[in-house]
Amino acid sequence: MRAKQILLDFAKEHKWRYFIGFIFLLVNSSITSLIPKIIGIITDSLTEAKPASVIYKYVFLLVAGAIGVFVFRFIWRYLIIGNSRYLECHLRAKLFKHLQTLPVNFYNNNKTGDLVAYAINDIQAIRRTFAFGLTAILDGVIVNIISIILMVKTINPILTVMALAPAPVIIFILVKLRKKIRERFGAVQKAFASISEKVQENISGIRVIKAFAQEEEEMEDFIGYGKKRVDTHMKLTRVSAALGPVTQICFGVSFVFFIMYGSDLVAKGVISLGDYVAFNTYIGVIMGPIVSIGKIVEVWQQGIASSKRLDTIFAVKSESDIQISAQEGLGASVLNFQTGEGKENDLEANVASTSDRGNSTEDTIKGRIEFIGLNFTYPGTTKRVLKDINLKLEEGQTLGILGKTGCGKTTLANLLLKLYEVDNGHIFIDGKDINNIHSDRLRENIGYVPQDNFLFSTSIKENIEFFRHIYHDDEITRATKMAGVYDDIIAFPDGFDTIVGERGVTLSGGQKQRVSIARALIKYPPILILDDSLSAVDTKTEEEILGNIKEVLVNRTGIIISHRVSTVMHAEQIIFMDKGRIIESGTHDELMGMKRKYYELYISQTEKPVEPANGAQSFENIENTEEKYQMKSMQGGAASANR
Ligand SMILES: Nc1ncnc2c1ncn2[C@@H]1O[C@H](COP(=O)(O)OP(=O)(O)OP(=O)(O)O)[C@@H](O)[C@H]1O
Ligand SMILES: [Mg+2]
Repeated sequence: MRAKQILLDFAKEHKWRYFIGFIFLLVNSSITSLIPKIIGIITDSLTEAKPASVIYKYVFLLVAGAIGVFVFRFIWRYLIIGNSRYLECHLRAKLFKHLQTLPVNFYNNNKTGDLVAYAINDIQAIRRTFAFGLTAILDGVIVNIISIILMVKTINPILTVMALAPAPVIIFILVKLRKKIRERFGAVQKAFASISEKVQENISGIRVIKAFAQEEEEMEDFIGYGKKRVDTHMKLTRVSAALGPVTQICFGVSFVFFIMYGSDLVAKGVISLGDYVAFNTYIGVIMGPIVSIGKIVEVWQQGIASSKRLDTIFAVKSESDIQISAQEGLGASVLNFQTGEGKENDLEANVASTSDRGNSTEDTIKGRIEFIGLNFTYPGTTKRVLKDINLKLEEGQTLGILGKTGCGKTTLANLLLKLYEVDNGHIFIDGKDINNIHSDRLRENIGYVPQDNFLFSTSIKENIEFFRHIYHDDEITRATKMAGVYDDIIAFPDGFDTIVGERGVTLSGGQKQRVSIARALIKYPPILILDDSLSAVDTKTEEEILGNIKEVLVNRTGIIISHRVSTVMHAEQIIFMDKGRIIESGTHDELMGMKRKYYELYISQTEKPVEPANGAQSFENIENTEEKYQMKSMQGGAASANR
């Protein structure tokens, strides 16, 4: 949907408010246009020494007109300008909703600051167009038309033409400058986006900036961005500010001729003194909108520029649109899997209750996962990050993924969550091609603990419930106990109501990880993915949490990504990845028996001097220095693997 369409829909929805507003505007403009005429009549009545009662009648009309203008103006402004506030809110909500539907790749390619600029500045510019821009144009046009008609009909046509002679010149200049104003305003908005991006980046990265003593450099950069914004604004001002004075000069010149010719007409008795005064007042009334025409054009052009900028965002396809186009013409490819045997336990009851909360049984995924010859390259890049991945995980099994940093572990999780598109025929869940499963349904069924453990600036409780107030307190307590973070939470003065982040308590890395784990566990998902989620906890806590997770994973599919062997060694299936490929796979015992990378890692992490068996390549024997470095980086934490 385009911004223009959204605005039209809004106008249709609020048509009565606009209609009544315009009626009041019309009445108001008509009264405004009559006032000069009344002033003219009063002048004539005075010069002709008419009885006081006649003069009082017109004076009364004048006062009533002024009161009418005040009342009607208030009403139309309240209705039309008030509407623009609703419009702003409506448009922003539409943009926000659209942003929520966009694929993650959109966020990889767009800066946060830019997006904030769209949501704040551009929408404000459109609001101004619908408030000041629209009303000033309507008011100006109506007042001018009525005034000109009255000037021609009741005073003098030649005088009117003379007074309005500069209008074509002004219109010509406006048409010429219109495009320039729009372009220059676009540059102003872009400059604002850079400032917004810089502020946002600096605030979120303040710890790194301080740690590297980068404050001065950042300040210099920021001043540079500020200056750029001033420059772009000055360029815009040079064009738009010139419009008002140019208009005034043109009309000033014509005013001189009007005075001369008009006085002559009065002297010759062609028009009365009252008409002359009325005409003069009309020029004042007409000049109001004409002088502010520069501002009106500027606001209008800014609105157009912003609406075009918004269109670039609205034009980005949402995830579901992409999904529909991907599915068009492609039938559901279904693989046959052996049906896993389901075991009854009390956790099943929890799944059932989760199902009752929105997932029908049909919606519940069982958790068989298969990758077949999967290759993957991130959109907009050329490097293949996953190569020929073949993997089968039965329902209820746990998979451990190990591998050097950057080998593609998180990418695998991203693809299972459908955060990126894959071709049909490579990833199957419960035998169904992932492209034929709706992303909402899929994600509802996956508990994901992301590597970056992002928490919102709200209470711990809300972070765990994820704003869905459907869980009982004892469920929250249970999830946090399983994630090993319950004791930490109740030690905070406000317990579960403790606010996380900017406005409250700063959680340690390990606490954040465990709150994220609780957030995933509370769903009792059929598929649980932990992406390096225990890296920041000590080995004893890790053991405890893994024990609890094992309990949750009975009958559920688990994927545990880690750099530590100790985290994954109990999984039914373990894969070791390298540069996007699975280079080893099997159980812990099988992999140890192979005496290759997994074995080496195990040895290096247990820090136990074990004699390498014949032919086995020990960590120290790895020739490639890059590999050595990578292996070392995986040793962080040296977990106790021999439990
Ligand atoms: N959004 C992205 N766009 C382009 N390339 C990406 C993107 N995300 C990751 N990559 C690249 O894909 C490769 C695999 O990244 P991935 O995050 O899957 O590694 P990982 O195994 O999870 O690493 P780590 O152990 O450090 O978490 C890396 O080379 C990385 O640079
Ligand atoms: Mg990762």
